[in-house]
Amino acid sequence: MATLRDIARESLRNLQEQGVNRLPVDDAARGILKAWCTPSSSAASPSRSEISELSTPEQKIDYLRRRAVNWSAARRLGSLREKMVFSVGNVHARLVLVGEAPGYDEERLGEPFVGKAGQKLNEILRAMGLRREQIYITNICKFRPAMGANQGTANRPPTPEEIAACLPLVLAELRAIRPACVVCLGATAAHGLLGGEGSVSSLRGVWHQLEDILPVRVTYHPSYLLRNEALSARRAVWEDMLAVMEKLELPISDKQRGYFLPR
Ligand code: URA
Repeated sequence: MATLRDIARESLRNLQEQGVNRLPVDDAARGILKAWCTPSSSAASPSRSEISELSTPEQKIDYLRRRAVNWSAARRLGSLREKMVFSVGNVHARLVLVGEAPGYDEERLGEPFVGKAGQKLNEILRAMGLRREQIYITNICKFRPAMGANQGTANRPPTPEEIAACLPLVLAELRAIRPACVVCLGATAAHGLLGGEGSVSSLRGVWHQLEDILPVRVTYHPSYLLRNEALSARRAVWEDMLAVMEKLELPISDKQRGYFLPR
């Protein structure tokens, strides 16, 4: 039997297909929607006590990877595809990058950021003097968002509900790795991790705090740079990365400082 939540989800999806992407809601409706989108703490959180019994980041991340495969909070939604794409990289990394969700290439190869956006990301890392193996790359949603039977190579961003379902995993990853800083790639990751709204341009350029201790920087998603090759866009991302390099106390040459400045 369809629940009220199923009916509401279906109606909202129909409206979205008709091009409606904003709806006025009163406080009562906002409360209900928030409750639906907030995973219940026991069923949807990796057990903190189980994790705390594990001593190394390797063990903790391995535990989370195994838990993520059948992540019921995400499966229950019925709007995400079958294959779970976990994070990749160094569990001792000082830098964690958080993307949006796996796309066609990532689902096929089972690794985040391996398509065109991944190549752009690798270029950015190279310019910073870093390799993928030195950092940890995760997505705010661990499953490719579904778009029906004829999806082909098409991708869509995860919904707030899909993000909320996977968020406990991402937070547990960050607690296991304890990096020196995190970079959110794009608005979807930023809204998921930090809450709130706002464009990347309004969120970038400053350090945010997660759980009162973890510095988080927001920058444009690499796919934005694939669409926008303007020097100003590349410089904006680069300035965010320079701030990250400073935070990590990485060496920065004069040449690096001057990348993408107008001549
Ligand atoms: N875009 C993302 O945000 N994440 C990926 O893994 C791939 C593309």
